[in-house]
Amino acid sequence: MKNYVSASILSADLLNLESEIKKLEENSIDMVHFDVMDGVFVDNITYGLPFLKGIRQITDMCLDVHLMIINPLKYIDNFADFGADIITFHLESESDVKQTIDAIHKKGIKAAVAIKPNTPAEAVYEYLPYLDMVLVMTVEPGFGGQKFISSTVEKIEKLKAKISELGLAIDIQVDGGIDDKTSVTVKKAGANVLVSGSYLFRADDMKKSAELMREA
Ligand code: DX5
Ligand code: ZN
Repeated sequence: MKNYVSASILSADLLNLESEIKKLEENSIDMVHFDVMDGVFVDNITYGLPFLKGIRQITDMCLDVHLMIINPLKYIDNFADFGADIITFHLESESDVKQTIDAIHKKGIKAAVAIKPNTPAEAVYEYLPYLDMVLVMTVEPGFGGQKFISSTVEKIEKLKAKISELGLAIDIQVDGGIDDKTSVTVKKAGANVLVSGSYLFRADDMKKSAELMREA
């Protein structure tokens, strides 16, 4: 499967977002990763709908929305209408999983389920036939700049094996502590969509760093 890099703008200079998005375009980054946190599902609060709409107005890049909110189903139509191309929500949220997947697909965009580091791979198996992507969190959701949790690697392998066994073509995304080194490990395990915030935005040469992540 093809590898993609999704840049988490949580690590971008938000006061200069337009030039930051330009930079992602110029450096051949594949997607913009947009982290929505509500202060309930996770401790942190980030940004939401109007901000996504603003980004949609300045770029045609794929907008990869990661909802870390307690009731994602309530907001699917809004996030889709405001420009999301992919919506990922958490299995651990309070919304009905199948209903939420269906609501996303009804908007004509891609649906993904995310699982936290302590949630086993098996928890998503029953939803695999309906999903475009599974996000395996490689840190506890809530903050950028955390250290990669290596016990998640086995879970990626398990999930990859199950997806192959079912004959499905589902992307596996990883998010948290992904850099040029950890990307080698997660790709070997089966992940192909690599979210990166601090590593990518701190890089002297963003294009080269993204290439390293994709190709290494
Ligand atoms: C964490 C977010 C991540 C975060 C990744 O809850 O979901 O997308 O921005 O940042 P890094 O790459 O710095 O770990
Ligand atoms: Zn994220």
